[in-house]
Amino acid sequence: MIDAVFLTHTAAPSGAELATLRLLTALRAGTAVRPSALLTADGPLVELLRARDIPVTVQRNDFDSRSLTIAGSGPLRLVGGALELVRLGLALGDTLRRADADVVVAQSTKALLMGAVAARRAGIPLVWQVHDRISADYFGRVLAVALRVLGRWAARGVVANSRATLSTLAVRRRPAVVAYPGIEESAPPPRVPQRPADAVRIVMAGRLAAWKGQDVLLRALALTAHRPAAVTLVGGAFFDEEEYRARLEELAAALPIPVEFTGHVADPGPYLADADIAVHCSVTAEPFGQVVVEAMRAGCAVLAADAGGPTEIVRPEVDGILVPPGDPAALAAALDRLAADPALRTRLAAAAVERSRDFGIDATAAAVTGLLATVTGRRAVAAP
Ligand code: GLC
Repeated sequence: MIDAVFLTHTAAPSGAELATLRLLTALRAGTAVRPSALLTADGPLVELLRARDIPVTVQRNDFDSRSLTIAGSGPLRLVGGALELVRLGLALGDTLRRADADVVVAQSTKALLMGAVAARRAGIPLVWQVHDRISADYFGRVLAVALRVLGRWAARGVVANSRATLSTLAVRRRPAVVAYPGIEESAPPPRVPQRPADAVRIVMAGRLAAWKGQDVLLRALALTAHRPAAVTLVGGAFFDEEEYRARLEELAAALPIPVEFTGHVADPGPYLADADIAVHCSVTAEPFGQVVVEAMRAGCAVLAADAGGPTEIVRPEVDGILVPPGDPAALAAALDRLAADPALRTRLAAAAVERSRDFGIDATAAAVTGLLATVTGRRAVAAP
């Protein structure tokens, strides 16, 4: 058994954390890895983990990661922040030691920073499970380079959520795997057949954030010839993104189409099952895009942005359609094409359900288990 502690800095139920929740659940059901979670914040994820019988520790702390951003914090705050970070890392290291952990798996860039200190303190290897593309377009040039260097120095192994994500890292000869964040096996809710052109319902699922591009969809809708009957934006604003939500509401109010904002929901399944077309239109390349797989599994005709993870999921014109990111006119044209052709939607959606089966959580768990076995030098199989 490998005792693996998964370290994360947030307990918000956003994409990366929900992926971690499913991974830990799958690992727990197996016999090779004993997973537990170590969080530096309290929040909904704690209860979700406990409900699945996964041991959770919340390490309280005063570390404010904003003090580490150069803009808006003076040199004194920066030094103070760095000291707090080291102190937290040392405390986490003591927790790892007490837990007799074999390996710590950092789930975010902040967790990488704290985990680097913690792993040294505990004398165990650190694995970086990367959910974000470590690129200038997402982090800015300086931070992207710094994170790559830190990752190379601190992480003995890397798990990336797509080939796109892996290609942004400097792994050299470190062990590295792509483990797509898989979905759990469950019967998708029953759905109605694809509706005629003038009755089409559109859904977009995902956190409300500028880089996820909900505004691109709303702008595209203003340009469509076939007006959909309804549009639903499923997702909450988590990380100081209320302003973006307000902007979206303004754009929506100006449309002659009813747009519903559901806020965060635990299970987007019923909304996906009720929609004909699911749209993904992140303006920055999506690292993976779990919502794309979920929409495919739910039997939607999927339109996704042609960059990053979705290009590894969707086979264009076979099980979905890819459109250039950040281009409302191109998205509007694709929406019109799909709306006008229920037979095309039906064909794409049926192939999408099939394709979604290639992204199961057991494959994710197997890939992560293999990497952990390599890094710890332990056999992945349980002793008899
Ligand atoms: C992050 C990424 C998203 C990915 C998820 C799970 O939320 O932005 O693309 O699906 O992590 O790895």
